[in-house]
Amino acid sequence: MATTHYSLLLFTISLLFLQSLCIQTNQSTFISLIKQSLSGPFMSSWALPCSGDTCFCTFPGIGCDDNGIVFKLDLSSRSLAGEFPPGICSYLPKLRVLRLDHNDIRSGFPVDVLNCSFLEVLNMSCSGLTGTLPDFSPLQSLRSLDLSNNFFSGDFPLSITNLTNIEAINFNQNPGFRFWKLPEDITRLTKLKLLILSTSSMRGDIPPWVGNMTSLTDLELSGNLLTGSIPATLGKLHNLQFLEIYYNRLTGVIPEELGNLTKLIDIDLSGNELSGQIPEKLCELPELEVLQAYSNKLTGGIPQVLCNSTTLTILSIYRNSLSGQVPPELGKYSGLVVLELSENQFSGELPAETCAGGQLLYFLALGNFFSGSLPESLGYCRSLIRFRVNDNQLRGSVPESIFSLPHVSIIDLSFNLLQGSIPKSIAGAKNLSGLFLQNNQISGSLPIQISWASGLVKIDLSNNMLSGPIPAEISSLSKLNQLSLQGNMLDSPIPPSLSSLKSLNVLNLSNNLLTGEIPESLCDLLPNSLDFSNNRLSGPVPIPLLKEGLIESVSGNPSLCVPIHLNLTDHLLPLCPQPSLRKRLNNIWVIGLSIMLSMFGILLLAKRWIHKRNQEEEQDGISSSSSFSYDVTSFHKLSFDQHEIVEALIDKNIVGHGGSGTVYKIELSNGERVAVKKLWSRKVKDGSSDHLSFDRELRSEVETLGSIRHKNIVKLYCCFSSLDSNLLVYEYMPNGNLWDALHNEWSFLDWPARHRIALGIAQGLAYLHHDLLFPIVHRDIKTSNILLDASFEPKVADFGIAKVLQARDHDHDSTTTVIAGTYGYLAPEYAYTFKATTKCDVYSFGVVLMELITGKKPNEPEFGENRDIIRWVSSKIASREGETEVLDKRLSWSPFKDEMIQVLRIALRCTCSSPGLRPSMNEVVQLLIEADPFKSDSINSPSSKFKAKNPT
Ligand SMILES: *[C@@H]1O[C@H](CO)[C@@H](O)[C@H](O)[C@H]1NC(C)=O
Ligand SMILES: *[C@@H]1O[C@H](CO)[C@@H](O)[C@H](O)[C@H]1NC(C)=O
Ligand SMILES: *[C@@H]1O[C@H](CO)[C@@H](O)[C@H](O)[C@H]1NC(C)=O
Ligand SMILES: *[C@@H]1O[C@H](CO)[C@@H](O)[C@H](O)[C@H]1NC(C)=O
Ligand SMILES: *[C@@H]1O[C@H](CO)[C@@H](O)[C@H](O)[C@H]1NC(C)=O
Repeated sequence: MATTHYSLLLFTISLLFLQSLCIQTNQSTFISLIKQSLSGPFMSSWALPCSGDTCFCTFPGIGCDDNGIVFKLDLSSRSLAGEFPPGICSYLPKLRVLRLDHNDIRSGFPVDVLNCSFLEVLNMSCSGLTGTLPDFSPLQSLRSLDLSNNFFSGDFPLSITNLTNIEAINFNQNPGFRFWKLPEDITRLTKLKLLILSTSSMRGDIPPWVGNMTSLTDLELSGNLLTGSIPATLGKLHNLQFLEIYYNRLTGVIPEELGNLTKLIDIDLSGNELSGQIPEKLCELPELEVLQAYSNKLTGGIPQVLCNSTTLTILSIYRNSLSGQVPPELGKYSGLVVLELSENQFSGELPAETCAGGQLLYFLALGNFFSGSLPESLGYCRSLIRFRVNDNQLRGSVPESIFSLPHVSIIDLSFNLLQGSIPKSIAGAKNLSGLFLQNNQISGSLPIQISWASGLVKIDLSNNMLSGPIPAEISSLSKLNQLSLQGNMLDSPIPPSLSSLKSLNVLNLSNNLLTGEIPESLCDLLPNSLDFSNNRLSGPVPIPLLKEGLIESVSGNPSLCVPIHLNLTDHLLPLCPQPSLRKRLNNIWVIGLSIMLSMFGILLLAKRWIHKRNQEEEQDGISSSSSFSYDVTSFHKLSFDQHEIVEALIDKNIVGHGGSGTVYKIELSNGERVAVKKLWSRKVKDGSSDHLSFDRELRSEVETLGSIRHKNIVKLYCCFSSLDSNLLVYEYMPNGNLWDALHNEWSFLDWPARHRIALGIAQGLAYLHHDLLFPIVHRDIKTSNILLDASFEPKVADFGIAKVLQARDHDHDSTTTVIAGTYGYLAPEYAYTFKATTKCDVYSFGVVLMELITGKKPNEPEFGENRDIIRWVSSKIASREGETEVLDKRLSWSPFKDEMIQVLRIALRCTCSSPGLRPSMNEVVQLLIEADPFKSDSINSPSSKFKAKNPT
């Protein structure tokens, strides 16, 4: 009896032993399978083959139990690429934790994972996964599922409602799902603490029964298409700490019941259409650190009780219709970090205790009706980075200590009624880059110590009461890009040293009492915008200024004269008195130059006359264009004569007609070619209703393009304007636009060329978005606005509706902007916000990328009704082998399929429906560089790929 028992026991033990031995063998097989399938430097840390049955248990990322059975595989963030091998749970049947997140697993969801019946944690976030998702019901042990930041498509996996043990679900940023609604069955998940479904194409309303999911600590549904009001039942989620429902289309009021969420730390309701007041009870919550509700339609005031908070760090409620006085003790008991009250209708005094905690970084209250004086206390707020209270009715003296805060980067007090002076202590503002005091009543003189604030990029002190000299030391501000001192009472000579400001784009000294001559050296600053008008300057105007056509900018100085006889404009200045003999001898070169110029002038006249005659013989149109009555503004050193341009505006040079005018291609006598856009102006279009927006368009283009320089942005040489038309002279782009290059039968671009074009555009846009003090949003990025130069380098053109995000983080006049952009390239949020953000450009750029990859136009009949290139691409890649199916058929031979797919993924991110999830243009540049088809460190070097495919 005993022996049978004994042998049975022995048998069982040996069976178990065999079984585990068997498992171990299988395990090591799979470990080496992974090593073969996924590549990356990390894999060398798996020293295979190794001796001993369970030797792999010591490898990084592998966890074994005491019997050498693998229960954990954690390869997160190991920079691995490749396909995950199939069959995982036939080899690792006891797996409980699988983390493959933050790698580049180029495949669909590894469906074999469904056999891992013990699996508790599955994290495949940010892994580049595509395709549809399976039925998750078999994973009954699952506690945590993170599939965020992938490109899944098809139906959302409602089977998650069967995972009754689950505690955390994260599908954040999977914009490719078909529209879906939250199913009521999800309330069965009674252990669920974390539910993150942001940017997952969810629509419908937030159902009231969500309030039954009382285990929730974190509910995030932002960036979807949710409508309706916020259900009051959310107030039952008594464990909730994070409620993120921003960027939806929610309406109605903020339910008072949210004030029952006593554990709430962070609530963000921004970017909806919520109305009514901020509930007082919400402001009383004891743990609340972050309260954000900007860009809604909220009214009423800030509840007094918020002042008593000891936890509040971020209050961001800009762009609403909030009014009344801001409670004076706001921030007194908490370490407030961000305060954004801009663009409301607040009145009364600015709150004075906001920096009591010594942590305040942003104080933004622009565009309200604040009155009273600036709080003295802010002058001691050493943490402050941005201080913007422009466009209010503030009075009194500016506390001097504000100017010397050590970290402050932007001080914007413009458009108020402030007094006081700029103190010497400004020398201490080592991080100050923008100082905006324009349109106040600032007096006193400009201290030379301003030149010690060496980070200054923009100084606008215009329209104040400053007096005394312009300190010559300002010339040491090497980053200075704008110096606007117009409309003051400055009364010194202009310091010649200003010529050393190499980064300057704008120098406006007009409407002061400046004396002396215009220093010749300032011509070094050309062709930038210079304005010396309406001063008391005297003596000769430097000849280069005249040649640049800047006579307008010296007008209103009765004692100025021109040293030589020139007759370029109507604004004639008197000829300078004849110089004395000594001076004449000294300046003999001036005489030489004047002779040369007069001869040139005579030649021109003669040429004009002949040309005019010819023209009259050829045709009898365009008579006004040859009488030169244009004002000239130039932005680059010009190598051509302006008359030559005007005279060449004849029919045979027309290369195209645009919405607003005619485009000419002109061959100059010096052999160069330029493109000239002739826009009819108000006088001609009078009676039509669009002249206003048209003028705005012109101004926008000139102002935007004139001030920027980048190899991927088309160069605007100069602008001539007369009563009846405006001429914009651009560099000529011999290869036309990208639309034609891509979609015309006769043209063909290979992938490396397309990649180079994509990268160039991205670099141009990144410059506009990130390298300028005030970002520029182009707003109409499309292939027909991308021009190609002789070597097919792309240049972004057509800035007619571009928008400069003028020093206003939250742009003031955005509601007045015209609806702009082009169907097929328009970001979805633009349809209801009309708000120009850099992310709108990122979206349009994503569409351009898709055109480059697929060779298709943004809207093709084959996409079917209501479907654009984005939906078409998403639906294609949802199918198996789908990614390669969308690639341009004309490139089917290309050895760069992988790189194209890499760029396709960038395009998908750029066209995310939620703006917040699109990458920045800087990021896009980085990603495109990584997708370089000739990147030397790719596994198969491209040259060998080429050879394989092209034997010749
Ligand atoms: C949940 O599991 C049951 C049983 O396996 C299945 O019939 C049902 O379809 C699943 N529910 C969903 C939404 O997938
Ligand atoms: C869930 O919530 C709804 C509406 O808020 C309520 O009518 C229902 O009784 C709740 N169900 C359970 C099981 O608590
Ligand atoms: C929640 O708040 C509402 C309104 O503020 C109140 O009437 C209700 O009694 C509260 N519910 C609970 C459960 O505390
Ligand atoms: C703030 O707290 C003080 C002291 O606890 C209390 O007296 C006062 O009523 C509170 N203020 C508001 C508006 O609740
Ligand atoms: C100068 O220009 C004006 C207007 O363009 C013209 O009327 C005048 O004849 C010109 N004078 C000379 C000397 O060319």
